[in-house]
Amino acid sequence: MPDGNEPELDTYQPADERLTPPESFVDQANVADPAVYDEFTDPDAWARAADMLEWDEEYDTVLAGESEPLRWFDGGRLNAAYNCVDRHLDERKNQRALVWEGRLGERRTYTYLELYQEVNEFAAALRSLGVEEDDVVTIYMPMIPELPIAMLACARIGAPHSVVFAGFSADALATRMNAADSEYLVTCDGYYRRGDAVSLKNKADTACVTVDEDVTTVVVDRLDGFEYTLGEDEYEYGPLVEDHRRERVTPVARDATDDLFRIYTSGTTGEPKGVTHTTGGYLSYATWTSHAVLDIKPADTYWCSADIGWITGHSYIVYGPLALGTTTVMYEGAPDHPEKNRLWEIIERQAVDVFYTAPTAVRAFMKWGEEYPEQHDLSSLRLLGTVGEPINPRAWKWYYEHIGNGECPIVDTWWQTETGGILVSTLPAVKDMKPGAAGPPLPGVGATIIDGDGDEVAAGEGGYLVIDQPWPGMPQELCEGRDWVERVTEAAPPLDSFDWAYPTEDGALADDDGYITILGRVDDVINVSGHRFGTMEIESAIVGVEGVAEAAVVSGTDEVRSDSVYAYVSTTAECGDEDRLREAIIDAVTDEVGTVARPKAVVFTPDLPKTRSGKIMRRLLEDIANGEDLGDLSALRNPEVVGEIESAVDPD
Ligand code: WTA
Repeated sequence: MPDGNEPELDTYQPADERLTPPESFVDQANVADPAVYDEFTDPDAWARAADMLEWDEEYDTVLAGESEPLRWFDGGRLNAAYNCVDRHLDERKNQRALVWEGRLGERRTYTYLELYQEVNEFAAALRSLGVEEDDVVTIYMPMIPELPIAMLACARIGAPHSVVFAGFSADALATRMNAADSEYLVTCDGYYRRGDAVSLKNKADTACVTVDEDVTTVVVDRLDGFEYTLGEDEYEYGPLVEDHRRERVTPVARDATDDLFRIYTSGTTGEPKGVTHTTGGYLSYATWTSHAVLDIKPADTYWCSADIGWITGHSYIVYGPLALGTTTVMYEGAPDHPEKNRLWEIIERQAVDVFYTAPTAVRAFMKWGEEYPEQHDLSSLRLLGTVGEPINPRAWKWYYEHIGNGECPIVDTWWQTETGGILVSTLPAVKDMKPGAAGPPLPGVGATIIDGDGDEVAAGEGGYLVIDQPWPGMPQELCEGRDWVERVTEAAPPLDSFDWAYPTEDGALADDDGYITILGRVDDVINVSGHRFGTMEIESAIVGVEGVAEAAVVSGTDEVRSDSVYAYVSTTAECGDEDRLREAIIDAVTDEVGTVARPKAVVFTPDLPKTRSGKIMRRLLEDIANGEDLGDLSALRNPEVVGEIESAVDPD
């Protein structure tokens, strides 16, 4: 029985334009033969991904396990740090592996040899602190070189890392450390926000108070002359690494199915959702997609502007690019600081070949105007990419014309934290581009769109996107058959007709050519500028504030950040001053979740609109936030609150 909470799946006009990749691109592309789509007739075809890596022991089977658990590259053993660093030493030890552009305009580069040395030294240091194989090391750092170095050092000794985005709060860090039983933390004194020093160590200290285990902490010195105190079991990174100068640590051979890392993302419950990626499957998949979709070559300078705190940075700043032996750029700053030409200045100076960013950034560039990219020679660019949210055709075309000069294909890549790597995108030399549509599933990837009854929908009709074949980048939890989907969305479709299925929780439609357009999340997850938050996470922070009775958060759209958080709050009788309460609510979200999830608006209402069965009608609140027509309110138990909420959002 529909109750008004079903996702909106039928409102998008699919793209009708197509552009062919330029011949100059096709001629040099890593994957240019359309036959690649026909070569994936069974899972064994994925051997091509695994064979891009060096294995200590060859795998016996590509995909093992009749039922759960599924095991990719079973029997194989390898080390991820060896594959990302050591194996390139023969051919390119003096080539730049990592180029870092700091927030204050600092620059640092690491050749493959230098990266090798530093990773070894920090791996030796971690060992000396007691880190053993399979111990989870939490890494809480801004975009500084020690972040990927720490990840690779962990990978070298077989200790899974759990990187927590530096913008997250102390509470969020503690929750993730407890969930992972992590006793080790690598962090830094702080970072610069538009020139001002901000402490990170303070947040880490606050978190450690509530971590169940005794924590051993390593602190990187990022800020100039910033004072902090070192407690018991706390070590400075610099002296620690110095103690292990020139030490070498033999890379630990890990089973292909062993954990490489843990990452937490948002699902429909209040708890962060832990996703575990494997050493063999994940690394093969990140490497293959970096090669086939992002067209990365060792001689390239490649730049993904994401933060390593999210999955995009794991797969496409660190693991995929380094496994391919390229030069990967890491940028710490904001795109408009000190000037709005900052990114274009870096692309010109570093002669970047491939640039991968988020649609929210593209919309900001578009708003700032083409006069900024026009000041720079961007002719080194060969390929552009986007990830994280849908890109509308207007922003797509702006990116194509003003950044790519009409000469670079754009890949609009759809994937998720869970998928480890790109699943839906054009192969840039093989398929035409259709602005607004991500593209067909990659070769070997099975995607189907179904309706609420579980039946496949016709071309052009919206439905639920389901991945119906295992792929090497799938996380351990899925290999084990874990059903993550909390069936709270009443419209969640049955999956009985599939032998195997992963429900992505995204709405989508496909056109006659099988190009998929993503319509957005169908669960209670809000995508704020490409960052995922569960509504429950934010709501539980809000209802913890004294004076709040009930809260519902939804996403509202504005011009630049596609989504921002709108909080609707009903109050108790003795809630006091509204402005003070609003401030307390914003502080609670900032403290418990992080600044990125800060509500753009807090709207007070006597009651939240509810269905007759008592569920909060989020769709309606979302429509109000977006100033849309509210339609039929008959499913509501309390339609009288709607007018009051509307006037609270927009008093005119
Ligand atoms: C959304 C980020 C449209 C989608 C890699 C997905 C996209 C969620 C695209 C995952 C795209 C990602 N077009 N939407 N090209 N890429 N999304 O886990 O809703 O942070 O489910 O992973 O971002 O976000 P996550």
